[in-house]
Amino acid sequence: MARLLAAAELGPGLRVLDVGTGNGRLVPGILEATAPFGEVTALDPSENMLAVARRRHPSPRVRWIRANLEEFEGRPGEFHRIICHAVFPHFFDAGRALGVAHRSLVPGGLLVIAHTVGRDRINARHEKAGGAVETDVLPPAGKLSDTLRRIGFHPERVRDEPDFYLVTARRPSTTPTR
Ligand SMILES: C[S@@+](CC[C@H](N)C(=O)[O-])C[C@H]1O[C@@H](n2cnc3c(N)ncnc32)[C@H](O)[C@@H]1O
Repeated sequence: MARLLAAAELGPGLRVLDVGTGNGRLVPGILEATAPFGEVTALDPSENMLAVARRRHPSPRVRWIRANLEEFEGRPGEFHRIICHAVFPHFFDAGRALGVAHRSLVPGGLLVIAHTVGRDRINARHEKAGGAVETDVLPPAGKLSDTLRRIGFHPERVRDEPDFYLVTARRPSTTPTR
């Protein structure tokens, strides 16, 4: 988890979107790294998860939003960082979710897609669980980084290790001219 937070290059005053916050596990670390004035927007489609997270991490610096990333209607360029921890395979439309992430980042902002478990284990776990998550697949990190490039990101770190998965990608700070 420390490795993931380090990859997010957090710092004081940053506005961070925590996608699929679940029970809010990442929230304390993000609050600490962005103190004293940074803000976390914690997003999750599950009202139950949000209720648990809100109870566990009451803070005036956290805004809780019930939504899928694909349908999130935030302000363009609102966030300095977007963190997707253990959520990427659950997007029902990954291309659309990544498009929303791109639009929601400030120019120069960073998207972090990470799992603190290796890809093979995640995919095997989802396949075995069946039902709603059976087809939730985490692609090879190199393939995801190609997808991000097509959307307009600049991929930076790409790791597909047995126990760690990480792709970071920046929204370029200038739009290339043709
Ligand atoms: C395995 S949990 C990860 C929770 C948290 N990020 C963590 O690090 O512990 C995945 C979460 O993603 C949420 N989720 C599922 N589909 C989503 C989507 N399309 N957009 C945003 N969050 C989603 C689920 O409701 C669930 O709370």
